[in-house]
Amino acid sequence: MTLDELMNDDLRQYIIQATSQEPPLLANLRHETQTQTPFGRMLSGPVEGKLLQFLIKLSRAKTCLEVGTFTGYAALQIASALPVDGRLITCESRAHHAQIAQKYFDLSPHGHKIQLLIGDATRTLPRLDQQFDFIFIDADKINYPTYYDLLLPKLSSGGLMVIDNALWGGEVVNPVAKDSLAIHTLNQKARHDSTVECVMLSVRDGILLIRKL
Ligand SMILES: C[S@@+](CC[C@H](N)C(=O)[O-])C[C@H]1O[C@@H](n2cnc3c(N)ncnc32)[C@H](O)[C@@H]1O
Repeated sequence: MTLDELMNDDLRQYIIQATSQEPPLLANLRHETQTQTPFGRMLSGPVEGKLLQFLIKLSRAKTCLEVGTFTGYAALQIASALPVDGRLITCESRAHHAQIAQKYFDLSPHGHKIQLLIGDATRTLPRLDQQFDFIFIDADKINYPTYYDLLLPKLSSGGLMVIDNALWGGEVVNPVAKDSLAIHTLNQKARHDSTVECVMLSVRDGILLIRKL
């Protein structure tokens, strides 16, 4: 059970309605994802998407990276918050997810800012030879500590790394399963890393914000 499920339905709706409305293309993408794939719950959604947009706009990020595209919802939220010369690289291992994402990128006026890399991120990320102002980690939980180690050197000074599912339904408090242990390991790594500062948000399933000093 995720923290989101523990929340009262009326309150969850109130939170969504108090957040700026998502554009129609993203509403269509969310609907297609929830009806055409068995993994609709993996999509970040309008509240987290808007939070990502705020972070990008406030930090004036121009170069972004996402690990775990799924059907492209967060990627489109990120891309539409970027200036015209902003760029997002997003990584996805499943061809079917990437196919849906690319279809929506092609329909969006912000799609030209997005480069979709298909393949296992543990292999594609080491080949990226550039710095990023903003990194969103939202793929396989078991590799979260690996993604932190691989990507912290590629994060610009003052840049933000955002970790999704950082509370993993509350399991991080007593982590036993491999995924909860991996997420807890990353949370601890960041907390004790003197090169960053971090704050844990209880939004949805937990979001850890990490800023490189
Ligand atoms: C939680 S979903 C991402 C949701 C997306 N960020 C959003 O907000 O809509 C996780 C995605 O990561 C992909 N994934 C899992 N392991 C991966 C890996 N090693 N490399 C690249 N993508 C991976 C999955 O196929 C899935 O589509």
